[in-house]
Amino acid sequence: MKENTNNSSFKSPLFKGEGKGLRLLLLGSGGREHALAWKIAQSPKLEKLYIAPGNAGTATLGENLDIRPTDFEALKTFALERDINMIVVGPEDPLVKGIYDFFTGDIATRHIAVIGPSAQGAQLEGSKTFAKEFMQRHNIPTARHLSVTIENKEEGITFLETLQAPYVLKADGLCAGKGVLILPALEDAKYELNAMLSGMFGQASDTVVIEEFLDGIECSVFVLTDGDNYHILPVAKDYKRIGEGDTGLNTGGMGSISPVPFADEAFMAKVRERIIEPTINGLNEEQIIYKGFIFFGLINVKGEPVVIEYNVRMGDPETESVMLRIESDLIDLFEGVHAGNLNEKELTIDPRTAACVILVSGGYPESYRKGFPVTGLDLAQASESIIFHAGTQTKDGHVVTGGGRVIAISSYGQAKEEALKQCYKAAGLIGFEGKYYRKDIGFDL
Ligand code: AMP
Ligand code: GLY
Repeated sequence: MKENTNNSSFKSPLFKGEGKGLRLLLLGSGGREHALAWKIAQSPKLEKLYIAPGNAGTATLGENLDIRPTDFEALKTFALERDINMIVVGPEDPLVKGIYDFFTGDIATRHIAVIGPSAQGAQLEGSKTFAKEFMQRHNIPTARHLSVTIENKEEGITFLETLQAPYVLKADGLCAGKGVLILPALEDAKYELNAMLSGMFGQASDTVVIEEFLDGIECSVFVLTDGDNYHILPVAKDYKRIGEGDTGLNTGGMGSISPVPFADEAFMAKVRERIIEPTINGLNEEQIIYKGFIFFGLINVKGEPVVIEYNVRMGDPETESVMLRIESDLIDLFEGVHAGNLNEKELTIDPRTAACVILVSGGYPESYRKGFPVTGLDLAQASESIIFHAGTQTKDGHVVTGGGRVIAISSYGQAKEEALKQCYKAAGLIGFEGKYYRKDIGFDL
């Protein structure tokens, strides 16, 4: 496996005829997908972009479809009808449910490039136990852990007693980002372990991973791989808590910034050597097909990178910063992923800083109302910022709020201060009832 650095011209094997461009179907509906659509739409290779289901923002770049990303039969029918060449998967759910295997295993659809891992590869995110055991097999640094079910609960209690506070409990399966508890007291950890094993997160917590707590600062490292070769995309940091100074409840993400100053050359050399290469080699050794994004959630423990988690997709809201910094043609890179010649594709990165600030609905991440008109989008769009829709809908021709996270505002700057200043200027131009955003994105860098 190689990290690639050179370039060459390449004729797409996906193009059906002379002068005909690529017909791409993007799955998902959040700010991440709007940012991916924005970048994809810049490619001269694109003929037509469809987004299933998309949002009010993606509708300005392609055609939204009323199909769920996990309705594989409906996606197949559509893909065949419209001669789709490539499917790019935004969220994890269809990947864990096996969309890659569904399309590549069917003679009618196997010519379509699916950008994402096989179901087996998606287990890196779909099962925390699978991910931990994979890391152990390949000597990839991660927190000490024990996986427990109702059968070995007592062993879990004993393991908890060997750890120091705070205590980390993780539901094994997908929980839409809600399956991790960090508890300051041992008694609470024991109580919550019981609750999780008794169905607190449904089947997702039938197995619970108990983990040693790691103290450090986190960052998100994204890799695009064809299974052998890989490119490291711009490193980003996200801000998960609702309150300033990283306080309060966890959210889907309140902002992001790229690059991350502490992820310097020395740190990234360790990440490559100890984490990225063993991961790609490990997938290869285990004959796990992986053609897509790998998201390494890392923590910097006194200068040493340790894996907190794998995700098998891009991050949200990191994508809303990362896409701004990719200069290369994203479709060209995806073609390399599909053809297995990503080493022949050049990745060039904009040296500027990109920042993203998320505007959310009042009350989020607890209960909130939807359907409020969003004003000022035209003014914000005319500013220096790039406006991505995270949770919006169109009602009677107007954009209205349609989720907890509503709008992602992304901006460039020579330094983070300048990028954030732009974001906050645009944040002031956009209005909707209950609008809230964090004013301290990047505070810790
Ligand atoms: P995960 O879903 O595994 O990414 O966990 C969600 C968040 O919980 C992470 O982004 C970290 O902020 C935190 N977290 C998870 N595991 C640990 C750990 N072992 N030590 C410290 N913080 C953790
Ligand atoms: N921003 C973290 C995630 O997408 O999971």
